[in-house]
Amino acid sequence: MPEPVAILVAVEQEERPALAESCAGGVDRVLEQSVHDARMNGVIAVGANHPPSTYDIAELGHGASLRHHGSMDPQPETHGQSGRAHEREFVRMWDELEPIGRDRSTGGYHRYAWSDADLLLREWFAGEAAARGLELTDDGNGNQLAWPADAELAGRGDAVLVGSHLDSVPDGGAYDGPLGVVSAFAALDLLAERGVRLDRPVVVAGFSDEEGSRFGIACAGSRLMTGSLAPDAALGMRDRDGLSLAEVLSARGRDLAAVRARPDILDRVSAFVELHVEQGRGLADMDAAVGVASAIWPHGRFRLEFTGEANHAGTTLMQDRRDPMLAFAAAVLAADEHAREAGARATFGRVEVLPGGTNAIPSSVRAWLDARAPDEASLVALVEAITLQARGMSRRDGTGLDVTPESVSAAVSFDTALRDAAAALLGGAPVLPTGAGHDAGVLSQHGVPTVMLFVRNPTGVSHSPYEHADPDDCLAGVRALADVLAHLAAA
Ligand code: GLV
Ligand code: MN
Ligand code: MN
Repeated sequence: MPEPVAILVAVEQEERPALAESCAGGVDRVLEQSVHDARMNGVIAVGANHPPSTYDIAELGHGASLRHHGSMDPQPETHGQSGRAHEREFVRMWDELEPIGRDRSTGGYHRYAWSDADLLLREWFAGEAAARGLELTDDGNGNQLAWPADAELAGRGDAVLVGSHLDSVPDGGAYDGPLGVVSAFAALDLLAERGVRLDRPVVVAGFSDEEGSRFGIACAGSRLMTGSLAPDAALGMRDRDGLSLAEVLSARGRDLAAVRARPDILDRVSAFVELHVEQGRGLADMDAAVGVASAIWPHGRFRLEFTGEANHAGTTLMQDRRDPMLAFAAAVLAADEHAREAGARATFGRVEVLPGGTNAIPSSVRAWLDARAPDEASLVALVEAITLQARGMSRRDGTGLDVTPESVSAAVSFDTALRDAAAALLGGAPVLPTGAGHDAGVLSQHGVPTVMLFVRNPTGVSHSPYEHADPDDCLAGVRALADVLAHLAAA
């Protein structure tokens, strides 16, 4: 096989020598493109001005190796001399997480609940907690909580939770989740540097299985903790290999009886703050590094099972077929049509076809619809319209269709007082809604006063290896998070 060509992207003319110098394999060609265009063309940008590319040429297997790559290269602290330590810590943490669960061919992450990668991430979290003298607990559902060691402080009933998740979607980006966890630890470091006294316990949280990539249910960890997902239903969830969560947890030596709602913990929480990379271009369009979330659209995942009859692709007359693929195709087209009409979103991102032979009419098609809309009535109407159109086709063909909601989340409006206080603290930061789901939504629904901060995503791309946030923006996010925590944790 020919050795792939290394492609370096330099936006600034003066970067080129540095790029050539840093690439042991030599520069094959230099493209003149903006980083945005380059990413859109599937090229990974590297170069002094474009960290943190969490990618480098060597790791992508392009046959060249970088002698130096700044995966996260912070700019000088703008908030005074003492700020450097938290920046160094941010970089160190980011670099430590970078290889865990990463697919070197795509640069994307595969960090699924209770996988080997997930266990490494949990170990990493425990190490960060220990390094800061925090007391690590697990709520029995796999949610990691790092409490201040001072028993009197930790024992107060008004803890401020701060964190996010470390798991990923299939081939996900580096930032969705981990940015919030790394920023939480770095914000604690910054508060210590600033000498800020925290009157309330600040607890770093790493929520388990937020993406639901393995077992299908989004925010499984926070739903279990709040009681909005029943333990039996959770333990019965199955992954793509047919393993139940109960089997997976047992194999990992975990106590199944400990999987349960934890009102005792939540009763000790007065607020939750989740920082997250923005998963759209809202902040980029407003030229703001950090924003505050106002709301989460209602959204849901629905499993559609189309059933028919396997038969020979060459000999079965078209009129004799019971091909479930056609009703599925109708559903895909209906999803696009109705979501466009309603200003909503509908996606089929996962499909399983049986028996999966090129020359066989399928016996079944199982597909997952992800639907989101600005309000609940529109969401219901959207799913009904898609289902109706698919049923029309399945009736024509004599095929079957069953629809099962797998996880549905109601609309979330974040605590308005907290939202406004955070926006004001951050100098009038923009306030914006999102179509993405978060543990913050689950806790907010449960009645925990919750605030979400977003960090600018220059391309808006997320759930993809091309997800990105600039290092300056990440550090602005840490400072914003520290400001919000200082506000919330003051007596
Ligand atoms: C979570 O990232 C979701 O919105 O699917
Ligand atoms: Mn996500
Ligand atoms: Mn996330």
